[in-house]
Amino acid sequence: MPGFDRDSRIGFIGAGAVGGSLAVALSRSGYRVVAVASRSWSSAESVAGRVPGCEPRETGQKVVDAADVVFLTTPDDAIGPVASSVSWRPDQAAVHCSGAGSLDVLDPVAEQGAARGAFHPLQQFSDIDNGSKGFPGITLGIEADEVLREFLREAAQAIGGNPVFLRPEDKPLYHVTGVLMGNLLSTFVATAASVCEDLGLTRSQGVHALLPMMRQVAINLESMGLPNAVSGPYVRGDIGTVRKHLAALKEGAPDVLPLYRELALLALPLAVEKGALAPARAEEIREILKESRAGSRRPGLQSEKHPAAEH
Ligand SMILES: NC(=O)c1ccc[n+]([C@@H]2O[C@H](COP(=O)([O-])OP(=O)(O)OC[C@H]3O[C@@H](n4cnc5c(N)ncnc54)[C@H](OP(=O)(O)O)[C@@H]3O)[C@@H](O)[C@H]2O)c1
Repeated sequence: MPGFDRDSRIGFIGAGAVGGSLAVALSRSGYRVVAVASRSWSSAESVAGRVPGCEPRETGQKVVDAADVVFLTTPDDAIGPVASSVSWRPDQAAVHCSGAGSLDVLDPVAEQGAARGAFHPLQQFSDIDNGSKGFPGITLGIEADEVLREFLREAAQAIGGNPVFLRPEDKPLYHVTGVLMGNLLSTFVATAASVCEDLGLTRSQGVHALLPMMRQVAINLESMGLPNAVSGPYVRGDIGTVRKHLAALKEGAPDVLPLYRELALLALPLAVEKGALAPARAEEIREILKESRAGSRRPGLQSEKHPAAEH
């Protein structure tokens, strides 16, 4: 039975944002990252250049030959094909970083006797320099064959993260949490910034106008938690303001109205839970919001072109 520990040699196939960030973070934490390959030589060289003792390799097979634990940090769709394209030894392990995929993606590895792991950082990675500093305090969702579990738990802690072991059936919903926060939060900001465009600001000015508020929301959530950190017209029960918002969105930004309405409906129970909004008042606001839902489904309204779409 193979064992994996801090002396295990680590390799990476896929030298992008996550692969590069993790290679750098593991190396800084004392792990032996020895080899990296990617689709392009320049990406492999770029990661190797940041990690002392790590060599760029021409092929994935050369990484597998040089390492004990191999992280497959390609895009999700390439993990299975890459795993099947190389020969594995029974004394090694393959690990992917996908949040949506489970261990079965690595069945070709298990068929050759090697161990399988999934090690998903619940964080957004856009590049290596910022990403390699992005591990402290984050959650790492782990699934692994028994022989690899302890290694991945220790690696998560060594880079400053909190390991959480997941059941395969929980993986898709777990991943949704990361997509809502990491990916769609950026889309949410883009949507709010598009409303700023209607006010005459550029998108970039809109983002900068909203960012301090986003930071403060994070600070308030961290210090006060839910529901105490929620505020705004839904907490205050400002029905007149809600009506003004709905009318303004219908007139000026109808494509944003459904998002606003559905989030507002989700905000009401939080405001009630906080003790700031009376249940009867919440019900009144809920009806107004639902009415606007029915209104926006009238034929023709959804197909009206929004002026912001032409920007
Ligand atoms: N980005 C995130 O925020 C995030 C967060 C958590 C988990 N993840 C997961 O991390 C994994 C990697 O995502 P990423 O964001 O780092 O992607 P990425 O930045 O696009 O990097 C993927 C890398 O894989 C290389 N590659 C593509 N196809 C390949 C192949 N067939 N063989 C070898 N290398 C190949 C790419 O090639 P080049 O050589 O051309 O550069 C690129 O460097 C995914 O499973 C993703 O779900 C991502």
